[in-house]
Amino acid sequence: MCGIVGYIGTKKAYPILIKGLYRLEYRGYDSAGVALLDGGLNIYKTHGKVADLEKLATNYNVQANIGIAHTRWATHGEPSDLNAHPHHSPSKKLAIIHNGIIENYGALKKELVNRGYTFNSDTDTEVLIHLIEDIQQNEGLALEEAVRAALIHVIGAYAIVVISEAQPDMLIAAKKGSPLVIGIGDNEYFVASDPSPIVEYTKEVVYLEDEEMAIIPKDGELCVKTIRNQEKTPYVYHLEMQLSSIEKGGFPHFMLKEIFEQPRSIKDSMRGRLNAGTGIISLGGIIDYENKLINCQRIIIVACGTSWHAGLVGEYLFEDLARISVEVEYASEFRYRNPVINEDDVVIAISQSGETADTLAAVEMARAKGATIIGICNVVGSSIARATHAGSYTHAGPEIGVASTKAFTAQVTILSMMALFIAGKKGSISQSRYHQLLGELEAIPAKVEKTLESNDTILEISKIFHNVRNFLYLGRGYNFPVALEGALKLKEISYIHAEGYPAAEMKHGPIALIDEEMPVVVIATRKGNYDKVVSNIQEVKARKGIVIAVVTEGDEVVYTMADHVIEIPETDEVLVPLVASIPLQLLSYHIAVLRGCNVDQPRNLAKSVTVE
Ligand code: G6P
Repeated sequence: MCGIVGYIGTKKAYPILIKGLYRLEYRGYDSAGVALLDGGLNIYKTHGKVADLEKLATNYNVQANIGIAHTRWATHGEPSDLNAHPHHSPSKKLAIIHNGIIENYGALKKELVNRGYTFNSDTDTEVLIHLIEDIQQNEGLALEEAVRAALIHVIGAYAIVVISEAQPDMLIAAKKGSPLVIGIGDNEYFVASDPSPIVEYTKEVVYLEDEEMAIIPKDGELCVKTIRNQEKTPYVYHLEMQLSSIEKGGFPHFMLKEIFEQPRSIKDSMRGRLNAGTGIISLGGIIDYENKLINCQRIIIVACGTSWHAGLVGEYLFEDLARISVEVEYASEFRYRNPVINEDDVVIAISQSGETADTLAAVEMARAKGATIIGICNVVGSSIARATHAGSYTHAGPEIGVASTKAFTAQVTILSMMALFIAGKKGSISQSRYHQLLGELEAIPAKVEKTLESNDTILEISKIFHNVRNFLYLGRGYNFPVALEGALKLKEISYIHAEGYPAAEMKHGPIALIDEEMPVVVIATRKGNYDKVVSNIQEVKARKGIVIAVVTEGDEVVYTMADHVIEIPETDEVLVPLVASIPLQLLSYHIAVLRGCNVDQPRNLAKSVTVE
């Protein structure tokens, strides 16, 4: 939800900022801009993508050593040149970039308008920079004090960076509710929404906490204070991230690269945690809370989007294996209800980015009500990871494609290990089943590798269907969340309407949609209600629907009925989502590419949704 980047040092800021914006474009890409301090303050900005900004800036002076830049996902005001960031103050001597939402901007704006200020944009951000300058002028304050005084009035979420023509030797950054990380280089500093624009230059970073400000000098030490002016000692993290992990590595799109990374990423999720030989699962991040998990009466899973689908798989796993009752909640609904939460409940928050505003708010609410909170996040050090009592990182590596793929399978891998861990401790499944499932889980990466060999078959199927208007996805049991996730992938990146349904529910409505035009993707793996799914396929065929079936290798029954078949290796029913979701990711990818869609940056979406 908007990406921000800043640089101060001895190098030219512009190329660093532009490269940083490209890396942050997954957060939003409807407009982009840069502000550079080189004697005076120059702002170049445009609607469109970072590439459009680059074209615009070819005619301008971009020699400065200090600057800030922004790629936007519109909240207040449509994508336009005027609404693009950075925004300047009335005197045009201050500039700001902002990620987040200032909820009381209306009231603040009214007050400023009453005092004679006018505004160029519809954004909440412009209000903040006007306010900062107003305070600075009225109270004769330096930039740091004026930013601090302004932030005291702000309700909402922000990660901001401010620069001033009058103090060209510093960046002022602050955050509350939106992420911000500072990179410490040799005589230079970087600021960004995540470490991806920074990792190329330094691995030493400081994550700002909520309501903290950083005074980042051109020369000298970084200074971190709270917005109430208490000095803090910054904790310097060493990044483990490799530059290669945020580049395409020869693939045409990040999404395809990430789909093909899954044998590795699933292995990484299990690394050091699962040993089928010794029968041990060890989840170090939850060790202090494992008894809570083993003994709880209820698990509530909160998440959004694809992570919510992983949560649904978790529901099946925890109930089936660990015999714990589970509720899976959309974080955005959960946080605004008055849910019954007990101190004995365990809340599992699932989030790739660890920054999704609704999931974070749900975590904070459940924590305040006394529940134990366990996180399953991909981004190390993210806000949700820090707001939980304990957790397991998925270790899938950076996921850049907006449509989540490897993060989903990594989340399901962690949930499988958690469910098996509890089942092993509680004895809710037999020892032999426990050991068999550990062995199966360890074998999943190889089965995913094998599934990826169907890529060409899936491309051919995609060529037949890339122009249709609707798709239906059906699955039962563990394959129901797979159907939901398959439909979401297609919608997100190809803009084809798709619905996921429990196969048996088809007859209560969606069956009315089926005709000779309608492709129906059925996940019909052996075991798990196989015969019932076969009946559902017959129901589709009887209405002339076109069936694309995902089947277990060696299937003979569905082969005779389906129009197109994609085979996956046999695995245990409880682990089948880890394999069955792969062909659906590839199907949506190829269909989107054939339709000429930008798969890594689908319209209107952003990878990290830090607004409600
Ligand atoms: C956005 C992304 C989805 C993601 C969802 C939840 O909508 O486009 O891919 O599943 O947010 O994100 P999270 O980071 O919390 O998993």
